[in-house]
Amino acid sequence: MEFILLGFADIPHLQWFLFGLFLIIYIIILMSNGTIFLITKIDPALQSPVYFFLANFSFLEICFVTATLPRMLMNLGTQRRRISLVACATQMCFFLLFGGTECLLLAVLAYYRYVAICNPLNYPLVVNRRVCIQLVTGSWTIGIPLMIVQTYQIFSLPFCGSNQIDHFFCDILPVLKLACGDTFVNMMLVYTIALLFVMVPFLWILGSYSKIMCIILKLSSATSRAKAFSTCSSHLMVVVLFFGSAIITYLRPNTRHSEGTGKMLSLFYTILTPIFNPMIYCLRNKDVIMALRKLLCK
Ligand SMILES: *[C@@H]1O[C@H](CO)[C@@H](O)[C@H](O)[C@H]1NC(C)=O
Repeated sequence: MEFILLGFADIPHLQWFLFGLFLIIYIIILMSNGTIFLITKIDPALQSPVYFFLANFSFLEICFVTATLPRMLMNLGTQRRRISLVACATQMCFFLLFGGTECLLLAVLAYYRYVAICNPLNYPLVVNRRVCIQLVTGSWTIGIPLMIVQTYQIFSLPFCGSNQIDHFFCDILPVLKLACGDTFVNMMLVYTIALLFVMVPFLWILGSYSKIMCIILKLSSATSRAKAFSTCSSHLMVVVLFFGSAIITYLRPNTRHSEGTGKMLSLFYTILTPIFNPMIYCLRNKDVIMALRKLLCK
């Protein structure tokens, strides 16, 4: 039993262009996140818990895009779109796992920022190595059982009709659409997971940032106010793009919609955030820039 990942088969004349574009994007993601991972490991100035956290986050971004992009590049490059059931299930499971972790880590990052700005006295209490390791480990492991159950449930459904997945990777809803059995339980599980891993972290982040904004607006110096405001709004923009596209995709009540928009939305949460996150969380950071300069000068 096999599926066919249609990907972008509806625009045949753009296959090589898309291949080049996504290859460049993939290389940029690997290089930027890899560099951040590397310098936070080797630079002695970047050994505080926050950098431990950001290193793990960069590592996660690499895992997250690697769950979907290489396969998509292969399909675009070879024009062979078959994918075995096992490969499809594996891809879905890893995508869900890394995606869920991504949501949780983004929530933790927002919380750290909130503590640093609004509650600095508590900072050493909350942002120390032990708590950081616990939070990171928790974010990685908490979703494992749920995501495995979710994937297992979907792939134990009978598939009898078409085997064409109109998407560029094995996402939940496009695969569920092909199942012939009753998908009610699966849909409930999708909503539950989306609420827990997407909606709750999103509201948490919005809450943290609204408190941060309140503090920023009270800053007396206009220049620091403008600077803090631009940092926070860039974070918020990426967060809203990531969570917004995921919420529209997974929490929309009916699954009947144009596949074109579905694919576009998925590009937001699969590719856009891993590109922007290293830029906004690290490359705007003075210590990281310094470490980068040192590394390049060596
Ligand atoms: C990130 O954290 C998780 C959970 O603690 C761990 O399994 C993983 O190896 C870490 N990754 C890196 C590269 O430090």
